[in-house]
Amino acid sequence: MSGDSVSMKTIDLRSDTITQPTDEMIEAIVKAHKSGRFGDDVIGEDEVVNELQEKAAKILGKEAALLVTSGTQGNLISLCSQTSRGDEVVVEKQSHTFMFEAGSMASIGGLYPKPVEGVRGYILPETLESVISPDDAHYARTRMVVCENTHNYAGGTVTRPEQIKALASVAHDHDLKVHCDGARLFNASVALGIPARKLVEDVDSVQICLSKGLSAPVGSIIAGSTEFIHAAHRTRKKLGGGMRQAGIIAAPGIVALEKMVDRLNEDHENAKLLYESIKDIPNLVIEKPETNILFLGLQNLNINQMQLAEELAKENIRVYGGYGVRTRMVTNRMVQRDDIDHVVTVLRRLLK
Ligand SMILES: Cc1ncc(COP(=O)(O)O)c(C=O)c1O
Repeated sequence: MSGDSVSMKTIDLRSDTITQPTDEMIEAIVKAHKSGRFGDDVIGEDEVVNELQEKAAKILGKEAALLVTSGTQGNLISLCSQTSRGDEVVVEKQSHTFMFEAGSMASIGGLYPKPVEGVRGYILPETLESVISPDDAHYARTRMVVCENTHNYAGGTVTRPEQIKALASVAHDHDLKVHCDGARLFNASVALGIPARKLVEDVDSVQICLSKGLSAPVGSIIAGSTEFIHAAHRTRKKLGGGMRQAGIIAAPGIVALEKMVDRLNEDHENAKLLYESIKDIPNLVIEKPETNILFLGLQNLNINQMQLAEELAKENIRVYGGYGVRTRMVTNRMVQRDDIDHVVTVLRRLLK
């Protein structure tokens, strides 16, 4: 070995979106290209996209599925394809659709969000029932409710099938559609040890991200009835989401669905290990993670979020500094168990 200093690995806990595609994903792109399977997906001629959509529909137990560019686009298409402008959509007040999608449901969809308080991200059926507007000319028509599973801002919390059934039952009794923002649906399914389709049996539409813990470089899937996907196809086109040789995205997406789901458990184990190793730090506000997201509340400590992010960066650990009033850490495929040991050592020193 030369005497050069060995550069230290960066441990990136900002998000599971930082995951790099696997070699197998890149090989799948090359293989599909060499066998001439790419085509113009706007006219439905990309064989790889068609394969991904069929596979995703089957996994999710839905009639049909559609590849979209991102989670945000998938949510927006799902909302807009099942409502009309001026309709009201009930959302959890810390949900991604409400807080982090640039207000697109209002600005682009013309939809009126009605935010309600959830319990660990879950909208209680009685809460939904109490906010559905009466059929009176003074009110916007309440047409939809959005649930998020796992729920990002609540800390990667899992909603169980019976909870979704109870919420959907109230929604359907009042003629509301139910959309599931399942950006991390597979984290919920792995945490509960049940197939993903069990979590979306009672919803009308679902969006799943291929590009988060599943490590694909780009893309999300939306799924639901054939009628919904037919409408969603037009909405995607309107939003500029029609893509040409999109098999380049779909090929890694297929690998993501086939090979990357079960390993999410490693991310969950690493999040638990991190929690168990720092939970006794005095004055740290922390809850046991159900999946791969952990929030640290620093309000009672002598360091704020920005300072913590800066100090961690000096030790090659990356977290977002300005994420609300808490520090979020998201375990992912690029972070190994040994890395967690290093993070624990540094955190214990900084959070004294
Ligand atoms: C719960 C949830 N929904 C939707 C999205 C949006 O996905 P994208 O970043 O692909 O638009 C995210 C992204 O982090 C998310 O965490």
